[in-house]
Amino acid sequence: MKKIVALFSIMFLGLVLAACQTTQGTIVIGANIYTYGDNFMNGVVRPELVRYAAQKGVTLNIVDSENDQAKLNDQVDNFISQGVDVLAINLVDPAAAGTIINKAKAAGIPLILFNKEATVAGVMNTYDKVWYVGTDSAEAGVIQGQMMLADWQANPSWDKNGDGKVQYVLLKGESGHPDAEARTRESVKAFTDAGIVMERLGLQDSNTWNTAEAQNTMQSWITSFGNQIELVISNNDGMAFGAVTAMKSASKVYPIYGVDALAQALQMIGVDELNGTVLNDGVNQARATIDLAINAAQGKPVTEGTSWVLRTDGTKAVRVAYVAVTKQNYQSFQ
Ligand code: GAL
Ligand code: CA
Repeated sequence: MKKIVALFSIMFLGLVLAACQTTQGTIVIGANIYTYGDNFMNGVVRPELVRYAAQKGVTLNIVDSENDQAKLNDQVDNFISQGVDVLAINLVDPAAAGTIINKAKAAGIPLILFNKEATVAGVMNTYDKVWYVGTDSAEAGVIQGQMMLADWQANPSWDKNGDGKVQYVLLKGESGHPDAEARTRESVKAFTDAGIVMERLGLQDSNTWNTAEAQNTMQSWITSFGNQIELVISNNDGMAFGAVTAMKSASKVYPIYGVDALAQALQMIGVDELNGTVLNDGVNQARATIDLAINAAQGKPVTEGTSWVLRTDGTKAVRVAYVAVTKQNYQSFQ
């Protein structure tokens, strides 16, 4: 009898242990941020990744890739040799998705890419265990464009030279980044679709989303164009902050719009230093990334038990919606 009890105890223990291996408590996520120097990724997305992973009871190992794709490649190799259960990767170079996908595939580890969408066509379909969490890049530009158009139409005095056209400068951000490319296209398109001619005085096509660089660029635009500038379009808030600093030190005021809805941007809308922004919902992007990672690590359908919706258009993407933020509603985002 004792033997039988002992045998059953051992069998039971075995079952419990087997069950434990698939519970969330044992899951280790290997993650990165492309650079801790990015306002939005470091200030909004990273803290929520950390907080939400802890809430879910999973282990998150997160590293800074210092804007260096080669460094990220090494970090992914390290995660794989450490035996992480799943990877959550913020590409440095969106064109390098294939390199990371191949590494994950060779190791048989599921991979969630987030924030920087792969730019190489078809690459998401080279591995059945890779997904993307981000936004619909074009949407931010569409919303920002509509907001600017409405304000332009409501303020005839903004057309300083009275020629009916908009003389503008545009801070683009990281060249080749799907968000930078789509925002640049769509914001301007809102005006041209409404029959308004857009005349571009300056375009900053750089390698970063950086505040200091945008400040320098804005300074030189002010020197070159002065009162000709009727509108400043910035593809993110971080660059708009730099532009506003340049405007203040030159005692210039131009209508200016950003994207992201960072806390500082909301404050600036409150004191009329920024005309509007677009909420880039990093909190929900972080949560979706962790939720998908946990499911993927357990071999479950990635959106199971969540409210995230996976696009069925071949992009294998969860896309979190953008929201317009103006003087009318900014307080509800603070
Ligand atoms: C964008 C965001 C930018 C920057 C970029 C990094 O979505 O608007 O501010 O953080 O991601 O990939
Ligand atoms: Ca004009």
